[in-house]
Amino acid sequence: MPKIISFENVSKIYPNRSIALDSVSFDIEKGEFISLAGKSGAGKSTILKLLIAEEKPTKGRVVFSGIELNKISTREMPILRRRIGMVFQDYKLLTGKTAHENVAYAMEVAGMPDSDIKRDVAQVLELVGLSDRRNNFPTALSGGEKQRVAIARALVQRPEVMVADEPTGNLDPINTWEIIKLLMKINELGTTVILATHDKEIVDTLERRVIILDKGRVIKDEEKGKYIIT
Ligand SMILES: Nc1ncnc2c1ncn2[C@@H]1O[C@H](COP(=O)(O)OP(=O)(O)O)[C@@H](O)[C@H]1O
Ligand SMILES: [Mg+2]
Repeated sequence: MPKIISFENVSKIYPNRSIALDSVSFDIEKGEFISLAGKSGAGKSTILKLLIAEEKPTKGRVVFSGIELNKISTREMPILRRRIGMVFQDYKLLTGKTAHENVAYAMEVAGMPDSDIKRDVAQVLELVGLSDRRNNFPTALSGGEKQRVAIARALVQRPEVMVADEPTGNLDPINTWEIIKLLMKINELGTTVILATHDKEIVDTLERRVIILDKGRVIKDEEKGKYIIT
């Protein structure tokens, strides 16, 4: 499979001088499901922020699908954000909108025809198993359901890569596993998935590629890896 993402000797030093990443290199191929593991502060979120160009590297290059993200202009940002869908630990749903409206919102802003919006939103809500919850506001949804709405909202843009930053951080074990299974299903349907987590059990159960970070360095990058902290 061709590579879709590469980090080439990437270092990130924040303005307060904290070294978040120290010469990090790896490639991700199209269609992979990869976990970024490591303790809090290891640099996982920084990698994801570089990938959606929310931050720029201090040194090195981040390349997505042939685009060097160091050089991306503000004008190109919305296109990048559609190609890389992202979900977070705290869901970031619009509280005044229903599940359906949360998913529809980006398509409405983009001026898509109502009939397309209706069709696509129904399709992704079905995929995440929330068709019967479509008219609920976030306050009436469980944590697991909120995360599924957030995933549907990212999916409706048909992203090439789905990035999840500690998506199960606020969930109980049953909902955690539901979300992980959903991410695996999305991966099986052809989307590259990058999961950042400090949860050893998830990484070990997945038996997929894992990159382990420690203090901003890659200390392990293995197929079917286990999250072993030495
Ligand atoms: N915006 C920021 N400004 C300054 N330091 C930051 C910022 N974001 C993260 N850091 C620091 O960079 C390091 C890596 O953080 P982060 O990428 O959030 O790690 P993780 O997601 O693995 O917990 C930590 O030491 C953190 O304090
Ligand atoms: Mg983080």
